[in-house]
Amino acid sequence: MTIPVSAQPPPAEAVRDLAEEVRRDLAATPKQLQSKYLYNGLGSALFEAICHLPWYRITRAEGRLLARFAPEIVAPVGDPVTLTELGCGSGEKLAMIAEALRVRRRPVAVHLIDISPSALELSERTLGALEHVSVVGHRATYEEGLRHAARQRPARGAMLVLFLGSNIGNFDPPAAREFLDRIRASLRPGDGLLLGADLVKPEPDLMLAYDDPLGLTAAFNKNLLLRLNTELLADFDLDAFAHRAVWNADARRMEMHLVSRRAQTVRLPRAGLEVSFAEGEAIWTESSYKYDAAEMSALGEARGFRRHAQWIDPDALFALTLFLVA
Ligand code: TRP
Repeated sequence: MTIPVSAQPPPAEAVRDLAEEVRRDLAATPKQLQSKYLYNGLGSALFEAICHLPWYRITRAEGRLLARFAPEIVAPVGDPVTLTELGCGSGEKLAMIAEALRVRRRPVAVHLIDISPSALELSERTLGALEHVSVVGHRATYEEGLRHAARQRPARGAMLVLFLGSNIGNFDPPAAREFLDRIRASLRPGDGLLLGADLVKPEPDLMLAYDDPLGLTAAFNKNLLLRLNTELLADFDLDAFAHRAVWNADARRMEMHLVSRRAQTVRLPRAGLEVSFAEGEAIWTESSYKYDAAEMSALGEARGFRRHAQWIDPDALFALTLFLVA
């Protein structure tokens, strides 16, 4: 069953928010754009495709760990269980966790939170097919969605929050700490947090994951400009920008940029904006921080969680860490 609770904001309002953020971010030095805007319908489809690339191993590694350890992951979570996934994407990973709860023969409440309407629709369908599961979709940012879920959960039982796909890596470290504080503040004793994190690995592997030979990642990144052309009536020439991925070894992050191939001026009428680019000037669209496994544990422990267990995929170098609230 599907009950959409967070109504989609009216398009005019969404466009106004986008325009305002784009005005601020393209005036910043260096120029930037918020990575949440990568995930419109086309962007979400491109990202799903990226997850099938041989060079982008995060999704499959995480899937392998969940397939193997889902029963251990849910074991410490008490009935009735509420599952909340921040950035649910296709919902397949959450379905693996929900499947592991089927043996308990108790209803499971699921909250799906995603910024992308198409991802939400897909995951509602995936989860809706499980008869022991009731699904609520929230088209919202992580924080809004988590607030909704925490408000709607039953007074009894435990909530397991899933934050997977190494999305924690898309926050810079201070923001990651702050975000874990927010999650922690919305949880109660007995609740859990399952955190998926990509680990530091050799630079060539990272480069292939974020700049693939098929060009899907480049298309995914450039789709951000296409979106601004559609929604803000901008006139970005997509051929005049190049996708660039860089491993910043000091900051231990992959950086995704869109680099202007020549000096040019772009108009964004709906944002009331005209922006000039020098040749080689970049827009910073995303960072993907990489951790080591012990750092992941320490990160959660420092925010008031107790590390219960950690599972590592040694091939892809990816870690799932389960934290509990004491
Ligand atoms: N959360 C994903 C990651 O950090 C997002 C991502 C994958 C991404 N490839 C990208 C973001 C390319 C921007 C550009 O791995």
